[in-house]
Amino acid sequence: MLVNGTKWLDTDGNPIHAHGGHMLQYDGYWYWYGEDRRDNIYVSVYRSKDLTNWEFRNHVLTTESKTEPIRVRTDLKLKNEDEETPVAAGADNADSTKRRRYKINLERPKVLYNKKLNKFVMWAHYENGRNYLCAGCAIATCDTPDGDFVYHGSFNPFGYMSRDCTLYQDADGTAYFLSASRDNADMHVYRLTEDYLNVEELVAKLWQGEYREAPAVMRREDGKYFIYSSYCTGWAPNQGKYAWSDGINSRFSLLEDFGDDTTFRSQPAFILPLDTEQGKQYIYVGDRWSGSEYFSSSYIFLLIKFDEKGMPYITWNDNFELDPVKGYTEL
Ligand code: GAL
Repeated sequence: MLVNGTKWLDTDGNPIHAHGGHMLQYDGYWYWYGEDRRDNIYVSVYRSKDLTNWEFRNHVLTTESKTEPIRVRTDLKLKNEDEETPVAAGADNADSTKRRRYKINLERPKVLYNKKLNKFVMWAHYENGRNYLCAGCAIATCDTPDGDFVYHGSFNPFGYMSRDCTLYQDADGTAYFLSASRDNADMHVYRLTEDYLNVEELVAKLWQGEYREAPAVMRREDGKYFIYSSYCTGWAPNQGKYAWSDGINSRFSLLEDFGDDTTFRSQPAFILPLDTEQGKQYIYVGDRWSGSEYFSSSYIFLLIKFDEKGMPYITWNDNFELDPVKGYTEL
């Protein structure tokens, strides 16, 4: 049994740090990637066959990760910087300096398997730690799902700001990168190149001026696409919304409410689709952030239900069981 919003432990008994994360199904396992801000770590990965017991596998991206340029011109800086600034004249300790560490943020990492390269490709949101103005996307790749990823740097897609983000792989293998642009005012949808190493085209700008972030995408069996997102209030949760469309490149509906006025105190991380004996299921995975105490942030997993018009909704349940065959069962 799993309890929503509590501390979840991996199979070694340590808290799972996979915040703002993503799951990838590959070769009999689900890999759960996410933010891990401890020490020099950026992204960690866990894996499971049963979706309940998670084995820690690797800190796949850290300040020490290998960097390697690619054809896209990027900024390869991955190490945090210490900077000393002189203390202002006249102050008691005027002769000394203040030391400050600027810690890079790599947020909301998402990973897809790319067939053309036979590699795992990660996209994330990059900030330099000095200000919140980089608003870049960052890319890394690896030959295995849980090996040491090689960092290929950060950039602004077509020159745009790019913050909260997600990846979505369509049924035909085409991948899309969604990210909040123009200081979070607009949500951009980019189609990626065949090797997932660059954006190819900005295919949509959604909800201009509506400040949506934390995007998560799913496609239902009937071919409808849903994008879930939050409003822009930092760590504090707010009313989740969704919109639907007949194609990821097509016109999206207006935003409709999803969950209660705090989305059950969570913000979307990703949607987990499962083929179960109960049929196709889609699980909403949200981060329950604890902004002031980041490492006690937890997760909530809720089953997405559909009303008679085929529109999604979630209800709260504390406890559940999750199994790839039996699916998600509310307790
Ligand atoms: C949220 C964002 C999180 C994190 C947080 C920091 O808006 O969705 O990923 O960046 O702000 O304040």
